[in-house]
Amino acid sequence: PTHALRITRQGRSPRSSRHQTLPKCVSTAVPGTLATDISSNGSTFSPTDSIVADDVADGSSTDTTDWEIEALSVVVVGASGKPGQYASEDDFKALSERLTEVEKEKEKANRVFYLSIPPSIFTAVAGCASTAASSPSGWTRVIVEKPFGKDSESFAQLEKELSNFLTEDQMYRIDHYLGKELIENLTVLRFANLVFEPLWSRQYIRNVQVIFSEDFGTEGRGGYFDQYGIIRDVIQNHLLQIVSLFAMEAPVSLAAEHIRNEKVKVLRSMKKLSLDDVVIGQYRGRSGTGVDKPGYLDDDTVPEGSLCPTFASVAVFINNARWAGVPFLLKAGKALASRRAEIRVQFHQVPGGLYQDKLGHDGDRSSNELVLRIQPDEAIYLKIINKVPGLGLNLDVTKLDLTYKQRYNVHLPDAYERLILDVIHGDKRLFIRNDELDAAWALFTPILKEIEEKRIQPETYPYGSRGPIGSHYLAAKYGVRWGDILSAED
Ligand code: BG6
Repeated sequence: PTHALRITRQGRSPRSSRHQTLPKCVSTAVPGTLATDISSNGSTFSPTDSIVADDVADGSSTDTTDWEIEALSVVVVGASGKPGQYASEDDFKALSERLTEVEKEKEKANRVFYLSIPPSIFTAVAGCASTAASSPSGWTRVIVEKPFGKDSESFAQLEKELSNFLTEDQMYRIDHYLGKELIENLTVLRFANLVFEPLWSRQYIRNVQVIFSEDFGTEGRGGYFDQYGIIRDVIQNHLLQIVSLFAMEAPVSLAAEHIRNEKVKVLRSMKKLSLDDVVIGQYRGRSGTGVDKPGYLDDDTVPEGSLCPTFASVAVFINNARWAGVPFLLKAGKALASRRAEIRVQFHQVPGGLYQDKLGHDGDRSSNELVLRIQPDEAIYLKIINKVPGLGLNLDVTKLDLTYKQRYNVHLPDAYERLILDVIHGDKRLFIRNDELDAAWALFTPILKEIEEKRIQPETYPYGSRGPIGSHYLAAKYGVRWGDILSAED
């Protein structure tokens, strides 16, 4: 049986809330008890769902856990119930008692708490979970999700508070982009193949684009979003994490600490951001010809006249021997033309240009490009110049195409599904270490402050468009054309 583990992240609109199943190897190998009554017993403490796996495994499941003697509880704290009700030690004690009952008398009972709650009560809840509901006999791990503060100072404060209750070992800072199939594959692509890694540097790569776009706005979520804006919501975490994995040196091993050591070096090598390298935008409504889309400011939950950016593009540079001078162009936006996330790696032109005049295309398109489409429709493809078959010598740009749907006809696990399984296994490779966040905030805090203090006006763009014009100028300044403005075929 599969047990539905419903994870609704704080403040999400229903369309994007997540219904997930426990990772297959857990749910099938461990029959378990779906202890929903923990959440519906009328207690003010309200985990949305709890999963208690208390049965003997058939042995086919995990390598690290001996299910015969262990019980596992995954408690999702959040989503329903009102803030303020969570931070009660008594309620957590009651929860702990209930968990002890369902854990039966296993020698070891492990507990995972997933905090899906507003940041204002992170510490209080982590404190209650830790002091009143930690496992008496096994490990207790806590999953926390962004926002990890709003800037360097508030992040440091949050860390300090959490460290009163949790050790670094217990804390799993989740960034769900790291759980996406293509992102997990990024290191495999680089380090398990001979053909990419030698090209992975300023010598061959002209620019790297990391693009996140959504075709819906912040409707109904404006109250949360307005306090953060797109830079904090997507760029400082998801996109920067992708860049750090993309650009890191080969780790000593696949051990979590080795990988994270390399990632943090990339983050620490980033050049200070300047306002000239940042474009911010905000979507406006669009109506007529059958379209009626609200602007960001039309949302009742958004304060009047808000300058909050719903779009941003940023050029970042990594000052190290491998990447000096290569623009990494990051772009994220709400209410754009399409929903997609991709990494585009544009290579230099072939020196000498022997075949240049045989190409009908403009110069920009005649260099190789490697695209990792994270979503939708996962794919990796490499654009190459090829001879059009037939007499004569005509060339065109075509693709070596690995589209997952065609090559692997399998269900791809949801990012959360994968990451929660990693927590159960104690695998921290895909979780963020505190020094990574410290470095990420060190990069963005000054620029965020400058934008806010100078009250920089975001450039407006129509709902459903390709974003503000300024973003194209920013790319053009570095001789780049955003890959996603090309046709879908590209
Ligand atoms: C979240 C952001 O972290 O990621 C949201 O807070 C965004 O604003 C979401 O919509 C995107 O995630 P996904 O997996 O739907 O691309």
